[in-house]
Amino acid sequence: MGGPGRSCPLAYRYQPEDLAGPAAFAATTLYVVGGLYGNTCALDAVLERASAEPAPVEIVFNGDFHYLDAPPSTFRAIAEGVGAHRATLGNVEYALTATDTDLGCGCDYPDYISSSVVADSNAVVERLRATAAGSPEHLARLAELPRHLTVSAGGRRIGIVHGDPESLAGWRLALEAVEPGDQAAREHTGWSGTPTSTDEVADWFVRAEVEVLCCTHTGLPYAQDFERDGRRYLVANNGAAGLPNFTGHRHGVITRLSSDPAAPADSLYGMELTGLRFDALPVRYDAGQWAAEFLGTWPPGTPGHRGYHSRITSGTWLRIEQAARGGVRLAGG
Ligand SMILES: [Fe+2]
Repeated sequence: MGGPGRSCPLAYRYQPEDLAGPAAFAATTLYVVGGLYGNTCALDAVLERASAEPAPVEIVFNGDFHYLDAPPSTFRAIAEGVGAHRATLGNVEYALTATDTDLGCGCDYPDYISSSVVADSNAVVERLRATAAGSPEHLARLAELPRHLTVSAGGRRIGIVHGDPESLAGWRLALEAVEPGDQAAREHTGWSGTPTSTDEVADWFVRAEVEVLCCTHTGLPYAQDFERDGRRYLVANNGAAGLPNFTGHRHGVITRLSSDPAAPADSLYGMELTGLRFDALPVRYDAGQWAAEFLGTWPPGTPGHRGYHSRITSGTWLRIEQAARGGVRLAGG
C-alpha cells in the first residue's frame, strides 16, 4: 500500500499491549469526541451538552478535530476549544505535523475507497497545512499528543484510539469490516478485504487489558458488545462528531460513558456494562449555520465540497438501527 492518502507510516503502528498501562485518569462521566472535522458549531454543541450533565465531564477529543477548518479564525477556534480538554492524535493532526510529503491526508485509505475520494482528502489537508503553518505553537502541541489513551470510569478500563488497536489510522474496526458482517454496509461502502473476526476483537481486549474500546476515523458509527471467558467487552465507534452520520438526521455522534446507570434522555442507543453505562449521544449543532460556513470555505468545485457537501446537507445512507449491534439497544427499543 502506498501513495499519498494510502500510506501507513511506521509512526502509526502500536500494539494493543501499549494500552495496558495504568489509566491516565478516572472519570465519573466521559465524552469521547472523534471526528469533529473542524465543525465549530459541533464543538459548541458538545460543550453545551457537557455543561448540562449532573456530574463533571471529562472530554477526550480522539483525533481529526481539524479538517475542514481552513479559515485561520476557524482553525484557531478549534485549536483553542479542543486545547482546553484532553486530546489524542488523529491522522489529520499527524499529517499537519509530519514532514513526510508523501503522506497526504494520512488516512491510510484501504483499496475499496475510490481514488477520487483519496485525492480530494489529500487536497483538503494540503490547504489546511497552509493554515496550520500560521499557528506554530499549536502545531508543537499537536506533535506532543499521544496516539492512544487509557482511562477508567465506573471501575472499567477504557481504551481510546483513533483507528484501531494496532494503527492510528487502522480500518479494522470500521462498521463494514467487523463480523458479523452487515451486508448493506459492505455493499454501500464497496468493502473488500479480510473481515475483523469477533475472536480478533476479543484478543485485542485481553491484550490491551481494557473492557471498552472507543474509536472513530472510519466515518460510520456503531457499538457492539463481545464476550470472552464470561466477560463482556464493548467497541464504541462514534463515527463523526462534526458530520451527519445517519439517513434522515444531520446531527453528529459522540460516545458517553458514565458510572451513573441512568440512560440520558437523548441517548440514540446504549447498554449497561456492570458499573458502567454506555450511550451514543447526538451532537445537535446548528446544521444551517454549519452548512453556510462550510459553503463559504468549500464552495462548489473545491475538494471539500466534492467530498462532504452531500453528507453535510443530506446525511448518509446508514440507519440508526444498523449502529446498535449485538446486545446494544436502541433507545426506546
Ligand atoms: Fe481519521
